[in-house]
Amino acid sequence: MSDLGFNKIAFCVLGTALAVIGLNEASHAMFQHEEHEFAGYYVAIEETTTGPAVVEGPRDYGTLLAAADVAKGAEQSKKCVQCHNFDQGGADGQGPHLFGVLGRDIASVAGFKYSTGGGSLTELEGEWTYEKLDHFIERPKGFASGTLMNFAGINSRITGLQDRMNLIAYIRTLGGEGIPLPAPLPPEAAAPVDGAAPVDGAAPVDGATPPADGAAPAAPGATPAPATPAPAPH
Ligand code: HEC
Repeated sequence: MSDLGFNKIAFCVLGTALAVIGLNEASHAMFQHEEHEFAGYYVAIEETTTGPAVVEGPRDYGTLLAAADVAKGAEQSKKCVQCHNFDQGGADGQGPHLFGVLGRDIASVAGFKYSTGGGSLTELEGEWTYEKLDHFIERPKGFASGTLMNFAGINSRITGLQDRMNLIAYIRTLGGEGIPLPAPLPPEAAAPVDGAAPVDGAAPVDGATPPADGAAPAAPGATPAPATPAPAPH
C-alpha cells in the first residue's frame, strides 16, 4: 500500500470520527434544546395553575371593602348557609353561627365542637379580622390545614377576590359594623384607581371628536377657553 493509500484510509477514518463526533454534538444540542423547551413548558403550566400567587403584597381591604356590593355578598352567602346560620342568636349548624363573626375570637363559640390538634382553628390566636376572614374563605385548608370546614373556598382567579369582598362586606353588616375598615393603602394602591380615568381620557385625543368639549371649539373659532373646562376653584 502506498503512502497515498494510507493517507486516504487515514483521512476516511478521521472523517468518520469527525462525523460521529458531529452527530453526538448535534444530538446533544437537540436534546438540550428539547430540555429547554420542556422546562419552558412546565413553567407555562405552572403560571396558569398557580393563580392566587398573582395577587402579591397586601390587599387594600379599606378600598376593596368600601367599594364592595353588599347585595351581591348576600348572594354569595348562599354558599355558606348549608352549614352556617347568619341570624342574630341563630343556632349553630355543621359550622358555628356567623352573626358577629368579625371581631370575634377565632373558634370561640361556646358549645361548638371545633377542630382540634395540628392545623386546627382552635390552635389559632386572635380574632377574625377582614384579612383573616378573606384568607380563610379563599382556601380554608390553606389558612388552617386541619380545619373541619369542608369547603373548597371562593377562589376563582377571575371573580374570587370580588366575590369574597362582597361576601365580607355583607358579613360586616351582621354585627360587624363596629369593626372599622382598614385605612386605604397609600400611593401605589390608589394609583390604578385614578389611572383608569387618564386612560379613558386619552382615547378622544386620537378620534379628535371629544364628545363634550369638542362641540365648543368647533363653533367659536378663536376661543381657547374650553381647554380649561372646569371652573373648579369654588
Ligand atoms: C360544608 C359545611 C360548610 C360550609 C359550606 C361552610 N362552612 Fe364555614 N365552617 C364549617 C365548619 C365545620 C366550621 C368549623 C371548622 C373547624 O372547627 O375547624 C366552620 C368554620 C367557619 C368559620 C370560623 C368561625 C369561628 O367561630 O371561628 C368561619 C368564619 C366560616 N366557617 C365561614 C364560612 C363562610 C363565609 C362560608 C361560605 C363562603 C362557609 N364558612 C362555608 C363548615 C362549613
